[in-house]
Amino acid sequence: MTTPQHSIGSGFGARSTAAEVLRGIDLTGKLAIVTGGYSGLGLETTRALASAGAHVVVPARRREAALEAVGGISGVEIDTLDLTDLGSVRSFAERFVETGRSIDIMINNAGVMACPETRVGPGWEAQFATNHLGHYALVNRLWPAITPGGARIVSVSSAGHRHSGIRWDDVHFEHGYDKWKAYGQAKTANVLFAVQLDALARDSGVRAFSLHPGGILTPLQRHLPTEEMVALGWIDEEGTPLNPSFKSPEEGAATQVWAATSPQLEGMGGVYCEDCDIAGRAPQDPSAGTGGVREYATDPAEAARLWTLSAELTGVDAFTVAAGR
Ligand SMILES: NC(=O)c1ccc[n+]([C@@H]2O[C@H](COP(=O)([O-])OP(=O)(O)OC[C@H]3O[C@@H](n4cnc5c(N)ncnc54)[C@H](OP(=O)(O)O)[C@@H]3O)[C@@H](O)[C@H]2O)c1
Repeated sequence: MTTPQHSIGSGFGARSTAAEVLRGIDLTGKLAIVTGGYSGLGLETTRALASAGAHVVVPARRREAALEAVGGISGVEIDTLDLTDLGSVRSFAERFVETGRSIDIMINNAGVMACPETRVGPGWEAQFATNHLGHYALVNRLWPAITPGGARIVSVSSAGHRHSGIRWDDVHFEHGYDKWKAYGQAKTANVLFAVQLDALARDSGVRAFSLHPGGILTPLQRHLPTEEMVALGWIDEEGTPLNPSFKSPEEGAATQVWAATSPQLEGMGGVYCEDCDIAGRAPQDPSAGTGGVREYATDPAEAARLWTLSAELTGVDAFTVAAGR
């Protein structure tokens, strides 16, 4: 059954931390994969899941940086993965599947934001390729290892999804690049991916969620000039944070950890979350704030169409071969 897109009154909120949403939850014996789990929100997510007892696999494009960030945390394992390289995605997934282990939690957290126009692989736009296509291929390649009857797959999207739906006529921005529209499209793709994955996987007891973590100053902003962040009211000229609604990394990691582990979401899926609850619909008036999810990001027809396009582009679709698992 489709889960309604509105608050369930979780009792948590914008200031809840990852440790708080995990209170009383024992993840001993569970295996989690956290992409980008060595920086910003991913690092806090890795720390929180490991301290609740999970074994956490962190596939990293910069192995040395990952070793430095999470190498000392008990229960954390580092591997290599570059989401812009389908060969690397395939190799990581094959290595993992060969170990015979099962995945209970998968958090598709890695991402890039508002980078200058960059082409990867066969000329793909880098934000769509990293944030969406790489994760699409990764989940489909790992599908044989995803635990039936209980696993959760979480896509870290953003309120930035409001900047664009899927541009069906120019998905790779071959005709005029706009860094915010490209981020918006990629983050809409994260939401649509969870909608379609949940529809395909729920009969196996595997559920998918997407979310906006909040606004958090992390290395994600590396492509934004200081003047732009000052103009947005995020920081002052010295780099001091100005926006009181910004979260700490521990608060920023909370919604993805909640979506991945909370018993409050038992039997639910396919929904977009924020502030450790299921989000409501975004208001029609775009000037009325950044909360909620746009209709185009949860439209089942758009989600199915994106799945088909992603399968064509990456050459992998676990659900055409695994039907009836
Ligand atoms: N921070 C915010 O305010 C905010 C708001 C809304 C949504 N989000 C979302 O939250 C997620 C985490 O962001 P963050 O703020 O924690 O950013 P971050 O600190 O920059 O972390 C992003 C991670 O993704 C990894 N990554 C980037 N490209 C990759 C690739 N090609 N292959 C493998 N890994 C790659 C990065 O690896 P390297 O370190 O090696 O580059 C890094 O570990 C992102 O999906 C972002 O869109 C963040």
